[in-house]
Amino acid sequence: MMVPMRLLLFCALAAHAQRLPQDPASIDAGRQLYLGSCSGCHGATGEGSQGPSLLSGRVARMTPQALIQTIKNGLPGTTMPNFNLADEKLRHLAAFLRTLTAPAVNAPIPGDPERGRTLFFGAAKCSGCHMAGGQGGYPGPDLTNIGAERTLPQLRESVLKPSERIAVGFRSAIVTLRDGRTIHGVAKNHSNYDAQILDNRGQLHLLSRDGIAKLELRDGSLMPPLADPSQANDLVSFLARQATRGAEGGKP
Ligand code: HEC
Ligand code: HEC
Repeated sequence: MMVPMRLLLFCALAAHAQRLPQDPASIDAGRQLYLGSCSGCHGATGEGSQGPSLLSGRVARMTPQALIQTIKNGLPGTTMPNFNLADEKLRHLAAFLRTLTAPAVNAPIPGDPERGRTLFFGAAKCSGCHMAGGQGGYPGPDLTNIGAERTLPQLRESVLKPSERIAVGFRSAIVTLRDGRTIHGVAKNHSNYDAQILDNRGQLHLLSRDGIAKLELRDGSLMPPLADPSQANDLVSFLARQATRGAEGGKP
C-alpha cells in the first residue's frame, strides 16, 4: 500500500509534538530547571506556595502543548511569568511536571526494578513489614498495587522520609494491657472506648477500653528511613511497577 510521503512525515511530526521525553536524563534536566526557576512559587515538590499546587487534576489533564505554552508565555495578568526557554528545555520541564502527577506505573523509572525486588525481599528488609504480590509480612500497608496509587515523588518520599506523611490507618501504636502484655503495631482504628491494633505477625487485636492500661500513639512512622539512600532508585523503580492491572497504555 502506498501512503503519501508528506502524510507520513506529518504523522511523525504530530506524534513527536505530543510526546514528552521519558528518559531519566531529560526528566532530571527538567527537575533541575524546575528547582532553579519554579520551586520558589510552586514548592519543591509541586505542592504550591505563592503559586498554586501543580499536583492538581487540572494540571494532570493539561496536554503537553498546553503545559509548554503556559510555561513559555506565562499567564498574563497573574504573577506566573513567561520563560523564554529553548524548546528542548520547555519539553524537559513539562516532562518533569508530568512525573509529579502521573501514577508511578506510567512514569519513567529512575533505576532497575529487578535489583529493587532483590533488595525489597532481601537486604533492605522491606518484606518484613510489607506484602507485595502476595509475599511478605505485616503490619505495613500491602504494596501490591502501590505503583497505580502513588506518584514517583510520593514513593521516593515514603522510602526516604517515612515519617513525613503517615498512611491513614497506619499510625504506630504501643498498647499496654491490664494483664501486663504489650502489643506493638499500627492502629487501624481507635476511639475513647476501643482500639484495633494490627501487630507484626498480621494479627488484628480488637481491644476494649477496660482491657487497655495505656495506649501510646507515636507521631513518627513505624517504618525506619532507608539505611542506604543509594538503594532508593532501585527500590522506587520496583515499587513503581507494582500494579495489579499493569501500566495503563496511557499518555506520558
Ligand atoms: C513568581 C511566581 C511564579 C513562578 C516563578 C512560576 N510560577 Fe507558575 N504560576 C504562578 C501563579 C501565581 C500561577 C496561577 C496563575 C493563575 O491562574 O491565577 C501559576 C500557574 C502555573 C501553571 C498552571 C497551573 C494551573 O492550575 O492552571 C503551571 C503549569 C505553572 N505555573 C508552571 C510553572 C513552571 C514550570 C514554572 C517554572 C519554569 C513556574 N510556573 C514559575 C506563579 C509562578
Ligand atoms: C518496621 C516495619 C517496616 C519496614 C521495615 C518497612 N516499612 Fe514501609 N511502611 C511501614 C508502615 C507501618 C507504613 C505506614 C505508615 C507510613 O506511611 O509511614 C509504611 C509505609 C510505606 C510506604 C507508603 C505506603 C503508602 O500507602 O503510601 C511505602 C512505599 C513503603 N512503606 C515502602 C517500604 C520499603 C521500600 C521498605 C524497605 C526499604 C519499607 N517500606 C520498610 C512499615 C515498614
